[in-house]
Amino acid sequence: MLDKLKIGIAGLGTVGVGVVKMLEKNSVLIAKRCGREIVVTAVSARSKDKDRGIDISDATWYENATDIANDDNVDLVVELIGGHEGAAYDLCVAALKNGKDFITANKALIARRGYELAQLAEENGVTIAYEAAVAGGIPVIKALKEGAAGNEILQISGILNGTCNYILTAMKETERDFDVILKEAQDLGYAEADPAFDVDGIDAAHKLAILTSIAYATPVNFDKVDVTGITGISLLDIKCAGELGYKIKLLGVCKKTETGIFQAVYPCLIDAAYPLAKTDGVNNAIFIEGDFVGNIVLEGPGAGQGATASAVLSDIIDIAAGRKSYTFNIPASDLTEQKFANANDYEGEYYLRINVLDRPGVLADITDILKNEGVSVESILQKPAKSSEKVDIFGATHKIDEKTMIKAVAKIEKLDNVLNKPTIIRILKS
Ligand code: HSE
Repeated sequence: MLDKLKIGIAGLGTVGVGVVKMLEKNSVLIAKRCGREIVVTAVSARSKDKDRGIDISDATWYENATDIANDDNVDLVVELIGGHEGAAYDLCVAALKNGKDFITANKALIARRGYELAQLAEENGVTIAYEAAVAGGIPVIKALKEGAAGNEILQISGILNGTCNYILTAMKETERDFDVILKEAQDLGYAEADPAFDVDGIDAAHKLAILTSIAYATPVNFDKVDVTGITGISLLDIKCAGELGYKIKLLGVCKKTETGIFQAVYPCLIDAAYPLAKTDGVNNAIFIEGDFVGNIVLEGPGAGQGATASAVLSDIIDIAAGRKSYTFNIPASDLTEQKFANANDYEGEYYLRINVLDRPGVLADITDILKNEGVSVESILQKPAKSSEKVDIFGATHKIDEKTMIKAVAKIEKLDNVLNKPTIIRILKS
Protein backbone atom coordinates (compact mmCIF):
# COMPACT_ATOMS: atom_id res chain seq x y z
CA MET A 1 0.00 0.00 0.00
CA LEU A 2 1.02 3.57 -0.66
CA ASP A 3 1.56 6.04 2.18
CA LYS A 4 -1.54 7.31 3.92
CA LEU A 5 -3.19 10.30 2.29
CA LYS A 6 -3.42 13.05 4.89
CA ILE A 7 -6.31 15.42 4.44
CA GLY A 8 -7.25 18.71 6.08
CA ILE A 9 -10.91 19.65 6.17
CA ALA A 10 -12.01 23.27 6.45
CA GLY A 11 -15.66 23.57 7.41
CA LEU A 12 -17.51 21.10 9.60
CA GLY A 13 -21.08 21.95 8.68
CA THR A 14 -23.56 19.52 7.13
CA VAL A 15 -21.18 18.40 4.39
CA GLY A 16 -17.95 18.40 6.41
CA VAL A 17 -19.50 16.22 9.09
CA GLY A 18 -20.85 13.93 6.36
CA VAL A 19 -17.38 13.52 4.88
CA VAL A 20 -15.86 12.57 8.26
CA LYS A 21 -18.70 10.11 8.96
CA MET A 22 -18.30 8.50 5.56
CA LEU A 23 -14.53 8.20 5.99
CA GLU A 24 -15.12 6.56 9.38
CA LYS A 25 -17.83 4.14 8.32
CA ASN A 26 -16.38 3.07 4.96
CA SER A 27 -12.66 3.36 5.74
CA VAL A 28 -11.82 -0.22 4.80
CA LEU A 29 -13.50 -0.29 1.43
CA ILE A 30 -12.28 3.22 0.61
CA ALA A 31 -8.68 2.24 1.41
CA LYS A 32 -8.99 -0.82 -0.87
CA ARG A 33 -10.44 1.25 -3.67
CA CYS A 34 -7.70 3.85 -3.68
CA GLY A 35 -4.84 1.66 -2.55
CA ARG A 36 -4.08 3.69 0.55
CA GLU A 37 -5.55 4.75 3.83
CA ILE A 38 -7.06 8.20 4.18
CA VAL A 39 -6.70 10.05 7.45
CA VAL A 40 -8.00 13.42 8.59
CA THR A 41 -4.99 15.18 10.08
CA ALA A 42 -6.28 18.74 10.33
CA VAL A 43 -9.62 20.49 10.69
CA SER A 44 -10.99 23.97 11.01
CA ALA A 45 -14.51 25.19 11.74
CA ARG A 46 -16.34 28.01 13.46
CA SER A 47 -16.76 26.39 16.85
CA LYS A 48 -14.27 23.99 18.40
CA ASP A 49 -16.52 22.78 21.19
CA LYS A 50 -19.67 21.95 19.29
CA ASP A 51 -20.71 18.29 19.52
CA ARG A 52 -20.94 17.12 15.94
CA GLY A 53 -21.15 13.40 16.65
CA ILE A 54 -17.78 12.70 15.00
CA ASP A 55 -14.35 11.92 16.41
CA ILE A 56 -11.78 14.43 15.21
CA SER A 57 -9.63 14.30 18.35
CA ASP A 58 -6.53 13.11 16.43
CA ALA A 59 -6.67 16.01 13.99
CA THR A 60 -4.90 19.32 14.56
CA TRP A 61 -7.45 22.06 15.14
CA TYR A 62 -6.94 25.38 13.38
CA GLU A 63 -8.87 28.54 14.21
CA ASN A 64 -7.80 29.99 10.88
CA ALA A 65 -8.69 27.75 7.94
CA THR A 66 -5.79 29.00 5.82
CA ASP A 67 -3.34 27.49 8.31
CA ILE A 68 -4.43 24.05 7.10
CA ALA A 69 -2.70 24.84 3.82
CA ASN A 70 0.56 25.50 5.69
CA ASP A 71 0.52 22.26 7.66
CA ASP A 72 3.19 19.82 6.41
CA ASN A 73 1.06 17.00 7.75
CA VAL A 74 -1.64 17.75 5.16
CA ASP A 75 -1.35 16.47 1.56
CA LEU A 76 -4.79 17.43 0.37
CA VAL A 77 -7.07 20.31 1.39
CA VAL A 78 -10.85 19.85 1.41
CA GLU A 79 -12.71 23.16 1.51
CA LEU A 80 -16.30 23.03 2.73
CA ILE A 81 -16.69 26.60 3.92
CA GLY A 82 -18.45 28.18 0.94
CA GLY A 83 -18.37 31.60 -0.66
CA HIS A 84 -16.18 32.89 -3.49
CA GLU A 85 -14.04 35.21 -1.41
CA GLY A 86 -12.68 35.40 2.10
CA ALA A 87 -11.68 32.23 3.91
CA ALA A 88 -12.55 29.77 1.13
CA TYR A 89 -10.68 31.70 -1.56
CA ASP A 90 -7.68 32.40 0.68
CA LEU A 91 -7.46 28.75 1.64
CA CYS A 92 -7.62 27.65 -1.97
CA VAL A 93 -4.86 30.02 -3.09
CA ALA A 94 -2.66 29.03 -0.15
CA ALA A 95 -3.20 25.31 -0.79
CA LEU A 96 -2.39 25.57 -4.50
CA LYS A 97 0.68 27.73 -3.88
CA ASN A 98 1.88 25.23 -1.29
CA GLY A 99 1.60 22.43 -3.83
CA LYS A 100 -1.42 20.75 -2.23
CA ASP A 101 -4.32 19.32 -4.23
CA PHE A 102 -7.61 21.02 -3.47
CA ILE A 103 -11.13 19.60 -3.29
CA THR A 104 -14.22 21.70 -2.82
CA ALA A 105 -18.02 21.58 -2.83
CA ASN A 106 -18.02 25.33 -3.41
CA LYS A 107 -19.80 26.18 -6.67
CA ALA A 108 -19.56 29.93 -6.09
CA LEU A 109 -15.78 29.69 -5.84
CA ILE A 110 -15.42 27.62 -9.01
CA ALA A 111 -18.05 29.58 -10.97
CA ARG A 112 -16.60 32.98 -10.10
CA ARG A 113 -12.89 32.37 -9.60
CA GLY A 114 -12.44 29.01 -11.34
CA TYR A 115 -10.49 30.24 -14.36
CA GLU A 116 -7.92 32.10 -12.27
CA LEU A 117 -7.66 29.19 -9.82
CA ALA A 118 -7.26 26.67 -12.64
CA GLN A 119 -4.28 28.66 -13.91
CA LEU A 120 -2.79 28.78 -10.43
CA ALA A 121 -3.29 25.03 -9.97
CA GLU A 122 -1.47 24.31 -13.22
CA GLU A 123 1.38 26.68 -12.40
CA ASN A 124 1.88 24.73 -9.18
CA GLY A 125 1.33 21.26 -10.66
CA VAL A 126 -1.69 20.45 -8.49
CA THR A 127 -5.34 19.56 -9.01
CA ILE A 128 -8.66 21.19 -8.20
CA ALA A 129 -11.61 18.77 -7.99
CA TYR A 130 -15.21 19.80 -7.34
CA GLU A 131 -17.64 16.97 -8.09
CA ALA A 132 -19.75 18.01 -5.10
CA ALA A 133 -20.15 21.54 -6.43
CA VAL A 134 -22.64 20.52 -9.12
CA ALA A 135 -25.82 18.53 -8.51
CA GLY A 136 -24.89 17.07 -5.12
CA GLY A 137 -24.47 13.32 -5.30
CA ILE A 138 -24.83 13.03 -9.08
CA PRO A 139 -21.45 12.39 -10.73
CA VAL A 140 -22.08 14.89 -13.50
CA ILE A 141 -18.58 16.37 -13.58
CA LYS A 142 -17.08 12.95 -14.13
CA ALA A 143 -19.79 12.12 -16.68
CA LEU A 144 -18.84 15.18 -18.70
CA LYS A 145 -15.08 14.99 -18.21
CA GLU A 146 -14.80 11.25 -18.74
CA GLY A 147 -17.91 9.45 -19.94
CA ALA A 148 -18.89 11.96 -22.60
CA ALA A 149 -15.34 13.16 -23.33
CA GLY A 150 -15.36 12.01 -26.96
CA ASN A 151 -18.54 13.87 -27.83
CA GLU A 152 -19.29 17.34 -29.01
CA ILE A 153 -21.81 18.48 -26.42
CA LEU A 154 -24.96 19.71 -28.14
CA GLN A 155 -26.85 20.68 -25.03
CA ILE A 156 -26.99 20.29 -21.26
CA SER A 157 -30.27 20.85 -19.52
CA GLY A 158 -31.51 19.98 -16.12
CA ILE A 159 -32.72 20.63 -12.63
CA LEU A 160 -29.66 21.84 -10.75
CA ASN A 161 -30.99 23.07 -7.41
CA GLY A 162 -32.40 20.65 -4.87
CA THR A 163 -33.93 23.31 -2.65
CA CYS A 164 -35.97 24.86 -5.47
CA ASN A 165 -37.10 21.47 -6.69
CA TYR A 166 -38.07 20.51 -3.15
CA ILE A 167 -40.07 23.73 -2.78
CA LEU A 168 -41.83 23.45 -6.15
CA THR A 169 -42.67 19.80 -5.55
CA ALA A 170 -44.00 20.40 -2.04
CA MET A 171 -46.02 23.45 -3.11
CA LYS A 172 -47.74 21.31 -5.74
CA GLU A 173 -48.27 18.27 -3.54
CA THR A 174 -49.15 19.91 -0.23
CA GLU A 175 -50.30 23.40 -1.22
CA ARG A 176 -48.35 24.89 1.69
CA ASP A 177 -46.75 28.31 1.61
CA PHE A 178 -43.40 28.92 0.01
CA ASP A 179 -41.79 30.17 3.25
CA VAL A 180 -42.87 27.16 5.31
CA ILE A 181 -41.43 24.75 2.76
CA LEU A 182 -38.22 26.75 2.42
CA LYS A 183 -37.72 26.50 6.19
CA GLU A 184 -38.19 22.73 5.91
CA ALA A 185 -35.55 22.58 3.14
CA GLN A 186 -33.18 24.57 5.38
CA ASP A 187 -33.80 22.20 8.31
CA LEU A 188 -33.02 19.24 6.05
CA GLY A 189 -29.63 20.80 5.19
CA TYR A 190 -30.48 21.42 1.52
CA ALA A 191 -30.38 25.19 1.34
CA GLU A 192 -27.41 27.50 1.01
CA ALA A 193 -26.31 29.56 4.03
CA ASP A 194 -28.22 32.39 2.37
CA PRO A 195 -31.26 30.66 0.84
CA ALA A 196 -31.76 33.59 -1.53
CA PHE A 197 -28.95 31.95 -3.53
CA ASP A 198 -31.25 28.97 -4.05
CA VAL A 199 -34.59 30.63 -4.70
CA ASP A 200 -33.15 33.45 -6.82
CA GLY A 201 -31.49 30.90 -9.11
CA ILE A 202 -27.91 31.97 -8.32
CA ASP A 203 -26.85 28.56 -7.03
CA ALA A 204 -28.18 26.85 -10.17
CA ALA A 205 -26.43 29.52 -12.25
CA HIS A 206 -23.10 28.81 -10.52
CA LYS A 207 -23.50 25.14 -11.38
CA LEU A 208 -24.57 25.81 -14.94
CA ALA A 209 -21.59 28.12 -15.57
CA ILE A 210 -19.27 25.31 -14.49
CA LEU A 211 -20.95 22.79 -16.80
CA THR A 212 -20.81 25.26 -19.69
CA SER A 213 -17.09 25.76 -19.22
CA ILE A 214 -16.36 22.04 -19.34
CA ALA A 215 -18.75 21.43 -22.24
CA TYR A 216 -17.64 24.34 -24.43
CA ALA A 217 -14.02 24.88 -23.33
CA THR A 218 -14.64 28.49 -22.39
CA PRO A 219 -13.37 30.26 -19.25
CA VAL A 220 -16.13 29.81 -16.70
CA ASN A 221 -18.35 32.87 -16.93
CA PHE A 222 -21.03 33.17 -14.26
CA ASP A 223 -21.79 36.79 -15.23
CA LYS A 224 -23.04 35.59 -18.61
CA VAL A 225 -25.73 33.34 -17.15
CA ASP A 226 -29.19 34.83 -17.55
CA VAL A 227 -30.87 34.08 -14.22
CA THR A 228 -34.49 34.00 -13.10
CA GLY A 229 -35.36 32.26 -9.84
CA ILE A 230 -38.59 30.84 -8.46
CA THR A 231 -39.75 33.64 -6.16
CA GLY A 232 -42.22 34.80 -8.84
CA ILE A 233 -43.86 31.38 -9.05
CA SER A 234 -47.14 31.28 -7.17
CA LEU A 235 -49.17 28.32 -6.00
CA LEU A 236 -51.80 29.53 -8.46
CA ASP A 237 -49.35 29.18 -11.36
CA ILE A 238 -48.42 25.69 -10.18
CA LYS A 239 -52.13 24.76 -10.15
CA CYS A 240 -52.88 26.38 -13.51
CA ALA A 241 -49.85 24.66 -15.05
CA GLY A 242 -51.16 21.37 -13.65
CA GLU A 243 -54.53 21.93 -15.32
CA LEU A 244 -52.73 22.39 -18.63
CA GLY A 245 -50.74 19.16 -18.14
CA TYR A 246 -47.44 20.63 -16.96
CA LYS A 247 -45.26 20.88 -13.88
CA ILE A 248 -43.09 23.90 -13.08
CA LYS A 249 -39.37 23.28 -12.57
CA LEU A 250 -36.32 25.51 -12.31
CA LEU A 251 -34.14 24.61 -15.29
CA GLY A 252 -30.55 25.32 -16.22
CA VAL A 253 -29.77 25.10 -19.92
CA CYS A 254 -26.62 25.60 -21.94
CA LYS A 255 -26.24 25.02 -25.66
CA LYS A 256 -24.48 26.42 -28.68
CA THR A 257 -26.71 28.55 -30.88
CA GLU A 258 -26.11 30.58 -34.04
CA THR A 259 -25.66 33.71 -31.94
CA GLY A 260 -23.39 32.21 -29.28
CA ILE A 261 -23.63 30.03 -26.20
CA PHE A 262 -27.07 30.17 -24.61
CA GLN A 263 -26.61 29.90 -20.85
CA ALA A 264 -29.71 30.47 -18.71
CA VAL A 265 -31.51 29.45 -15.52
CA TYR A 266 -35.27 29.95 -15.54
CA PRO A 267 -38.53 28.45 -14.29
CA CYS A 268 -40.18 26.40 -16.95
CA LEU A 269 -43.39 24.45 -17.52
CA ILE A 270 -42.48 20.91 -18.43
CA ASP A 271 -44.87 18.48 -20.05
CA ALA A 272 -45.86 16.14 -17.24
CA ALA A 273 -45.00 13.17 -19.48
CA TYR A 274 -41.39 14.33 -19.90
CA PRO A 275 -38.85 12.58 -17.62
CA LEU A 276 -37.57 15.87 -16.16
CA ALA A 277 -41.08 16.60 -14.87
CA LYS A 278 -40.93 13.40 -12.85
CA THR A 279 -37.80 14.48 -10.99
CA ASP A 280 -39.29 15.60 -7.71
CA GLY A 281 -38.24 16.61 -4.22
CA VAL A 282 -34.58 17.31 -3.59
CA ASN A 283 -33.57 15.29 -6.64
CA ASN A 284 -31.72 16.86 -9.54
CA ALA A 285 -31.69 15.54 -13.10
CA ILE A 286 -29.36 16.40 -15.93
CA PHE A 287 -29.57 15.61 -19.64
CA ILE A 288 -26.28 15.70 -21.50
CA GLU A 289 -26.76 15.49 -25.24
CA GLY A 290 -23.66 14.42 -27.16
CA ASP A 291 -23.28 14.19 -30.92
CA PHE A 292 -22.49 10.47 -30.82
CA VAL A 293 -23.89 9.19 -27.55
CA GLY A 294 -27.29 10.92 -27.80
CA ASN A 295 -28.90 11.69 -24.46
CA ILE A 296 -27.31 10.72 -21.16
CA VAL A 297 -29.69 11.15 -18.24
CA LEU A 298 -28.38 11.46 -14.70
CA GLU A 299 -30.74 11.70 -11.76
CA GLY A 300 -30.26 11.63 -8.00
CA PRO A 301 -30.17 13.66 -4.81
CA GLY A 302 -28.92 17.15 -5.54
CA ALA A 303 -28.34 18.28 -1.96
CA GLY A 304 -28.04 16.98 1.57
CA GLN A 305 -25.35 15.52 3.77
CA GLY A 306 -24.99 12.02 2.37
CA ALA A 307 -25.27 13.01 -1.28
CA THR A 308 -22.75 15.83 -1.09
CA ALA A 309 -20.31 13.90 1.10
CA SER A 310 -20.49 11.05 -1.42
CA ALA A 311 -19.37 13.41 -4.19
CA VAL A 312 -16.55 14.85 -2.06
CA LEU A 313 -15.37 11.32 -1.29
CA SER A 314 -15.29 10.43 -4.97
CA ASP A 315 -12.82 13.28 -5.52
CA ILE A 316 -10.74 12.29 -2.48
CA ILE A 317 -10.54 8.72 -3.76
CA ASP A 318 -9.56 9.90 -7.26
CA ILE A 319 -6.71 11.99 -5.91
CA ALA A 320 -5.63 9.26 -3.52
CA ALA A 321 -5.51 6.83 -6.44
CA GLY A 322 -3.63 9.30 -8.64
CA ARG A 323 -6.51 10.04 -11.01
CA LYS A 324 -6.22 13.72 -11.81
CA SER A 325 -7.54 16.01 -14.51
CA TYR A 326 -7.40 19.64 -15.52
CA THR A 327 -9.90 21.82 -13.67
CA PHE A 328 -12.10 22.29 -16.74
CA ASN A 329 -10.77 19.16 -18.49
CA ILE A 330 -8.27 20.93 -20.74
CA PRO A 331 -5.32 23.16 -19.87
CA ALA A 332 -6.53 26.56 -18.69
CA SER A 333 -4.49 28.19 -21.47
CA ASP A 334 -6.60 26.32 -24.05
CA LEU A 335 -9.91 27.64 -22.70
CA THR A 336 -11.06 30.29 -25.17
CA GLU A 337 -13.47 33.17 -24.68
CA GLN A 338 -16.64 32.60 -26.67
CA LYS A 339 -19.61 34.73 -27.52
CA PHE A 340 -22.70 34.26 -25.37
CA ALA A 341 -26.17 34.55 -26.86
CA ASN A 342 -28.61 37.18 -25.71
CA ALA A 343 -31.08 35.39 -23.42
CA ASN A 344 -34.02 37.01 -25.22
CA ASP A 345 -32.90 35.37 -28.47
CA TYR A 346 -35.22 32.56 -27.53
CA GLU A 347 -38.11 30.94 -29.31
CA GLY A 348 -40.57 28.59 -27.71
CA GLU A 349 -44.00 28.06 -26.25
CA TYR A 350 -45.23 30.17 -23.32
CA TYR A 351 -47.59 29.90 -20.39
CA LEU A 352 -49.54 33.08 -19.84
CA ARG A 353 -51.72 34.04 -16.87
CA ILE A 354 -53.63 37.28 -16.64
CA ASN A 355 -55.61 38.42 -13.59
CA VAL A 356 -58.59 40.45 -14.81
CA LEU A 357 -61.90 41.98 -13.78
CA ASP A 358 -64.63 39.68 -15.00
CA ARG A 359 -66.24 42.10 -17.49
CA PRO A 360 -67.72 41.52 -20.96
CA GLY A 361 -65.13 41.79 -23.72
CA VAL A 362 -62.01 41.35 -21.58
CA LEU A 363 -61.12 38.00 -23.14
CA ALA A 364 -61.76 39.38 -26.63
CA ASP A 365 -59.45 42.35 -25.93
CA ILE A 366 -56.69 39.99 -24.85
CA THR A 367 -57.07 37.63 -27.79
CA ASP A 368 -57.17 40.61 -30.18
CA ILE A 369 -53.77 41.75 -28.95
CA LEU A 370 -52.37 38.23 -29.23
CA LYS A 371 -53.78 37.93 -32.76
CA ASN A 372 -52.44 41.31 -33.84
CA GLU A 373 -48.97 40.53 -32.48
CA GLY A 374 -48.98 37.12 -34.20
CA VAL A 375 -49.12 35.04 -31.00
CA SER A 376 -51.02 31.83 -31.65
CA VAL A 377 -52.86 30.38 -28.64
CA GLU A 378 -52.81 26.63 -28.10
CA SER A 379 -55.22 26.57 -25.16
CA ILE A 380 -56.96 29.06 -22.93
CA LEU A 381 -58.88 28.53 -19.67
CA GLN A 382 -60.49 30.68 -17.02
CA LYS A 383 -60.28 30.26 -13.26
CA PRO A 384 -62.38 32.22 -10.76
CA ALA A 385 -60.17 34.20 -8.41
CA LYS A 386 -60.88 34.54 -4.66
CA SER A 387 -62.98 37.62 -5.23
CA SER A 388 -66.01 36.93 -7.46
CA GLU A 389 -65.23 40.09 -9.42
CA LYS A 390 -61.90 38.74 -10.60
CA VAL A 391 -60.78 35.82 -12.73
CA ASP A 392 -57.50 34.44 -13.95
CA ILE A 393 -57.27 33.76 -17.64
CA PHE A 394 -54.46 31.36 -18.40
CA GLY A 395 -53.25 29.23 -21.23
CA ALA A 396 -50.41 28.18 -23.47
CA THR A 397 -49.16 29.62 -26.74
CA HIS A 398 -47.69 27.98 -29.78
CA LYS A 399 -44.06 28.65 -30.64
CA ILE A 400 -43.21 32.34 -30.80
CA ASP A 401 -40.07 34.40 -30.35
CA GLU A 402 -39.64 35.86 -26.89
CA LYS A 403 -39.39 39.49 -27.96
CA THR A 404 -42.82 39.28 -29.63
CA MET A 405 -44.28 37.61 -26.57
CA ILE A 406 -42.94 40.31 -24.26
CA LYS A 407 -44.32 43.03 -26.56
CA ALA A 408 -47.78 41.44 -26.62
CA VAL A 409 -47.85 41.05 -22.85
CA ALA A 410 -46.83 44.69 -22.35
CA LYS A 411 -49.87 45.70 -24.40
CA ILE A 412 -52.16 43.34 -22.47
CA GLU A 413 -50.94 44.84 -19.20
CA LYS A 414 -52.20 48.24 -20.29
CA LEU A 415 -55.81 47.06 -20.85
CA ASP A 416 -58.32 48.64 -18.44
CA ASN A 417 -59.60 45.40 -16.94
CA VAL A 418 -56.18 43.80 -16.46
CA LEU A 419 -55.30 44.05 -12.77
CA ASN A 420 -51.66 42.97 -12.51
CA LYS A 421 -48.60 42.41 -14.62
CA PRO A 422 -49.37 39.18 -16.51
CA THR A 423 -47.20 36.16 -15.75
CA ILE A 424 -45.32 34.51 -18.58
CA ILE A 425 -43.25 31.37 -18.16
CA ARG A 426 -41.41 29.40 -20.82
CA ILE A 427 -42.69 25.93 -21.67
CA LEU A 428 -40.47 22.98 -22.50
CA LYS A 429 -42.16 20.46 -24.77
CA SER A 430 -41.06 16.83 -24.97
N1 HSE B 1 -28.43 24.50 -1.93
C1 HSE B 1 -28.02 23.58 -2.91
C2 HSE B 1 -29.24 22.93 -3.52
C3 HSE B 1 -27.12 22.54 -2.27
O1 HSE B 1 -30.31 23.04 -2.93
O2 HSE B 1 -29.15 22.34 -4.58
C4 HSE B 1 -26.45 21.64 -3.25
O3 HSE B 1 -25.62 22.33 -4.11
